[in-house]
Amino acid sequence: MMKKFSVVIAGGGSTFTPGIVMMLLDNSDRFPLRKLKLYDNDGDRQGILGEALEILLREQAPEVEFSYTTDPEEAFSDIDFCMAHIRVGKYAMREKDEKVPLRHGVFGQETCGPGGIAYGMRSITGMLEIIDYMEKYSPEAWMLNYSNPAAIVAEACRVLRPDSKVLNICDMPVGTLRRMSQIVGKKPEELEVRYFGLNHFGWWTSVKDKEGNEYLDQIRAYVAENGYLTQIEVDTQHTDPSWQETHKKAKDILAVAPEYLPNTYLKYYLYPDYVTDHMQEHPEYTRANEVMAGREKTVFDHAKKIIENGSAEGIAFEIDAHASFIVDLARAIAYNTHERMVMIVENNGAIANFPDDAMVEVPCIVGVDGPEALTQGNIPAFQQALMFQQVTVEKLVVEAYVEKSYQKMWQALTLSKTVPSAQVAKELLDDLIEENGEFWPELS
Ligand code: NAD
Ligand code: G6P
Ligand code: MN
Repeated sequence: MMKKFSVVIAGGGSTFTPGIVMMLLDNSDRFPLRKLKLYDNDGDRQGILGEALEILLREQAPEVEFSYTTDPEEAFSDIDFCMAHIRVGKYAMREKDEKVPLRHGVFGQETCGPGGIAYGMRSITGMLEIIDYMEKYSPEAWMLNYSNPAAIVAEACRVLRPDSKVLNICDMPVGTLRRMSQIVGKKPEELEVRYFGLNHFGWWTSVKDKEGNEYLDQIRAYVAENGYLTQIEVDTQHTDPSWQETHKKAKDILAVAPEYLPNTYLKYYLYPDYVTDHMQEHPEYTRANEVMAGREKTVFDHAKKIIENGSAEGIAFEIDAHASFIVDLARAIAYNTHERMVMIVENNGAIANFPDDAMVEVPCIVGVDGPEALTQGNIPAFQQALMFQQVTVEKLVVEAYVEKSYQKMWQALTLSKTVPSAQVAKELLDDLIEENGEFWPELS
């Protein structure tokens, strides 16, 4: 008989929780569950999703023992995997990350630039907390972590919890690969990539099918015209108007360095003025507002309806296609599948001309001991220089966190390609300290 697994979802109140649960149920033949728990430090928020999912599981998967809790011991005892997607400060703080920089003429974004730096300072504390709970109550377990900003979180894990079984992952490489697969008329699982970069900061150097046919040129030609905009929607997560704009903008990113296919997030570093101008057109309505009125509302409305009806019949939560990545990863570890996946790992030579101690995003072979990076060779000076600037920002943020250093935070913001000067960086920093309050360590 196939082993059955116990999973806790940390950030149980996340807008992505129902999608992940539906995806887990959909994959129960490949990854069978015995227990499924939700954990959150906001009982009220999680309670709505917990109550609804309890009804849904009773109807659709009564064999899975389901519970939800705010008690760490209950949550983290007897688990094989923690699938984490917490947002420290929730949407209220994401909104500030997006709006505070705008006051200083700089765009605000969830994971990039000053917004991402501010979020990083909040996230580290929350991540260390759940890692420590997991290690206390289930020392053998793995954490598969989606919580952002993944680049800074991954660097913090490297420095502060080097031996912990935490894998930081991002769905953007898989999400974009789904678009590429559509461009060339293949299934995503038929394609294999070479890729190098940092999280939300990378390039594809090869996209081949299993027979070895290369599609890079064909996809580049398409992206040069359309960006990653595709006809049929392949990705339920990235379809709002602002995301369509982002997929389209890949065209202009490609134009700067046409040999490789860019990650869409590079728009924030190569076209910051364009992003800021766009945001200034409606500074009171940012992506956080779009998500609160969209995904968050839909998910919580659905949950409330299920609770009201006492049944999930006829009320569907969408299966989160993007989240299947997390099941593939859990399977790779649990069954030693040696699947090839793009992951965030310590460089150690994977990118030959880049520091060993940088957290980079590269294809890896994943098995029972986690990921083994595939070497990507030397990268060109343009990408190398951009990456070195950005990775140094990420390292400075973690150093600032550890040393509680105002100076290093000022340097991090000053060095970010998104901030025009040390003067603006300082004004921004003082504002961010004020707005983040207790969520940040006190800097001096
Ligand atoms: P959300 O605000 O809806 O959910 C986050 C939940 O985390 C909230 O219920 C909150 O109460 C909880 N939380 C906050 N701090 C906590 C702590 N210390 N312990 C336990 N729970 C805590 O956010 P969302 O939009 O669903 O996104 C969740 C996270 O997933 C974010 O960090 C987001 O950036 C990330 N994400 C990452 C990727 C990726 O590519 N890595 C993809 C999608 C989402
Ligand atoms: C992509 C990124 C994630 C990010 C998300 C934001 O999936 O890889 O890291 O959190 O987009 O999406 P949202 O819909 O919340 O703006
Ligand atoms: Mn991501």
